[in-house]
Amino acid sequence: MQVGIPREQTPGEQRVALVPETIGRLGEGIEVIVESGAGTRAAFLDDAYREAGATIGDPWGAEVVAKVAPPTAEETARLRPGQIVIGFLQPLTDTAGVERLRAAGVHAFALESVPRITRAQAMDALSSQATVGGYKAALIAADRLPRFFPMLMTAAGTIPPAKVLVLGAGVAGLQAIATARRLGAVVSAFDVRPAVREQVESLGATFLDLGIQGEETAGGYAQELTADQQAAQQAELQARIPTFDAVITTAAIPGRPAPRLVTAEAVRAMRPGSVIVDLAAESGGNCELTRPGEEAVESGVTIVGITNLPATMPTHASQLLSRNVAALLGLIVTDGAVALDWDDEIVAGACVTGKGEA
Ligand code: NAI
Repeated sequence: MQVGIPREQTPGEQRVALVPETIGRLGEGIEVIVESGAGTRAAFLDDAYREAGATIGDPWGAEVVAKVAPPTAEETARLRPGQIVIGFLQPLTDTAGVERLRAAGVHAFALESVPRITRAQAMDALSSQATVGGYKAALIAADRLPRFFPMLMTAAGTIPPAKVLVLGAGVAGLQAIATARRLGAVVSAFDVRPAVREQVESLGATFLDLGIQGEETAGGYAQELTADQQAAQQAELQARIPTFDAVITTAAIPGRPAPRLVTAEAVRAMRPGSVIVDLAAESGGNCELTRPGEEAVESGVTIVGITNLPATMPTHASQLLSRNVAALLGLIVTDGAVALDWDDEIVAGACVTGKGEA
């Protein structure tokens, strides 16, 4: 049985779905065909794939094609009915892309749709990539801030530590908190899910009490706030945001536009030199003034709206993703052959087209 690894076509996508390290662990009977240059931008050269036992060639004829970004129209045209495609297929937002895959007759497995249950933790690519994004967001905040993160006591006097606020303390937010803390900042955080308070405090950050509490879905995600709750949250934040040097926002509701947390007015009330890193830029941004994909200065405040942060740290992002993909392959391949068990809730949950078909 063959697994194909294409070179990503999406601009800025530097990750690769499988790295050489993982290939040897895939088990008997799995042959990997890697498109030349697929791993180069993540620092995995063709030779490393060859040494790991892969073949460099055309990945599109393989029974399973594993990639990072959703297949483009041209890529989808290369697929044939019955093939399996694994990737971040954006099932809740890229309906046209999913329809193309359905029309191509493939079994499409979206990494975003892997149920977040204990047994599927090794396949949780949303978490592995959010970890990278959160780490990078804290580094960007530290880099763009014209101040130190840590407290410094020098012969020239004492420098107070930077104050960082993290909004949304899911996987990315918790990693941003941990990273900002390690750099010496004083960190506060807020999330609408009440269960998060303890996690925030265990990282040495302060939970900001905004008096707003949301509901948690069975899947562990936040439910969208009501219009009244949203207005109350914006007002509470507006009063507090000016006291922070850097704000890292990561708040998201799967499949919905990012909740608006930081208004233009709140940005204008911040001190010049302050920084906002908006990890939700891709889904519209948590900050009203974020320009997705760009970095802008508004009233002296730097607003970073870089999208796809995990792709900016492609070696480790790919390594983690590769382990997730391998774990998913372990579920759909038995004894070197594809065997889809539709009674398995992970297989059924992750499949977004061709579900239940042989
Ligand atoms: P996400 O990326 O969808 O959202 C990020 C954070 O934004 C969430 O913590 C959410 O509560 C928060 N948020 C939403 N609206 C907000 C608002 N208006 N203001 C402030 N915060 C807001 O979430 P992520 O990071 O993918 O995961 C969320 C949770 O899913 C985890 O913390 C965990 O409970 C659960 N999970 C469970 C896993 C498992 O294997 N059981 C694995 C990973 C996550």
